Amino acid sequence: MSRSYRVAILGATGAVGRELLTLLESRNFPIADLKLLASNRSAGQRLPFKGENLTVETVSNSAFDNVDLVLASAGGSTSKAWATTAVEAGAVVIDNSSAFRMDPQVPLVVPEVNPQAAANHKGIIANPNCTTILMTVAIWPLHQLKPIKRIIAATYQSASGAGAQAMEEVKTQARAILDGREPKPEAFPYPLAFNLFPHNSPLNEQGYCEEEMKMVNETRKIFGDQDIRVTATCVRVPVLRAHSEAINLEFETPFAPESARKILSQAAGVKLVEDWQANHFPMPIEASGRDEVLVGRIRQDISHPCGLELWLCGDQIRKGAALNAVQIAELLVEKNLLKGSAAYVSR
Ligand code: A2P
Repeated sequence: MSRSYRVAILGATGAVGRELLTLLESRNFPIADLKLLASNRSAGQRLPFKGENLTVETVSNSAFDNVDLVLASAGGSTSKAWATTAVEAGAVVIDNSSAFRMDPQVPLVVPEVNPQAAANHKGIIANPNCTTILMTVAIWPLHQLKPIKRIIAATYQSASGAGAQAMEEVKTQARAILDGREPKPEAFPYPLAFNLFPHNSPLNEQGYCEEEMKMVNETRKIFGDQDIRVTATCVRVPVLRAHSEAINLEFETPFAPESARKILSQAAGVKLVEDWQANHFPMPIEASGRDEVLVGRIRQDISHPCGLELWLCGDQIRKGAALNAVQIAELLVEKNLLKGSAAYVSR
């Protein structure tokens, strides 16, 4: 008899939380019981799952009793507040926030890249940052053939990365501007409709923002390669839910665009979108709602003999967050790693 699991979604009412619900249903994850958890703001709200309406509960000390798996997407401070409680109650936590990603005790997993890392979990597995997930899925297959020395990334990140409220805000601001009214920024520091701005996460002494440093540090951890050089410029753009990235890769020796194309056309989680005649390449509207990372415009970098340029788009809520988390959960089920553990000790 196959096992089924008692699952809780922490942050069920958010943009990623709702996508988790959809994916658990559409991918037929073996669920014995599903608990929806959020703040007391949304307690009592009902969300549909498999033809039923499930009631959202306020997260509490006893919320994780008799839960095997927690899919957490309620922000870093909420994860920090509840992950240890969940693990001590016997659950495995797949955490979408940045709270535990760089903790050496916590595997940081992209199933297409480093599924083996999940086996070392001590109760918490971290889901990487969305931009890092999308980029690593696209470049890992190339790195397998010829190691990448250096990555230069520029991101064009949608509003969804800042949550459901931020997505609404872009629409409200667009309406306001079209009606000749002042757009009111709330979730973001500046108006995003008809505008863009460098990612507003905190800046370090070197002038890099947190989001950019996530791409640097998380890529190294996922690739298991502390020497790979990564630099990024992250920008928020007025797109609702899929991120885009311009990636420049430097290898030891030249990497023919044709071989990169061939590798990526067969790579797990990647879809090559290149119609040079029609000038049709990945676009956020075509990536939205899709599981794969769309990759195209693969070309030789004319400024460097060992350089390769590519362009990608991926659904930030799906592969950049909820889908990657559900794939990790499926991996745990497949490898029989979902037994619950009280071994994680927060430091
Ligand atoms: P709530 O709807 O009760 O605020 P998003 O990233 O789309 O903004 O969603 C964030 C998710 O995290 C929501 O489900 C939100 O619930 C939840 N959340 C935010 N803060 C807390 C908290 N302190 N405790 C529990 N859930 C929280």
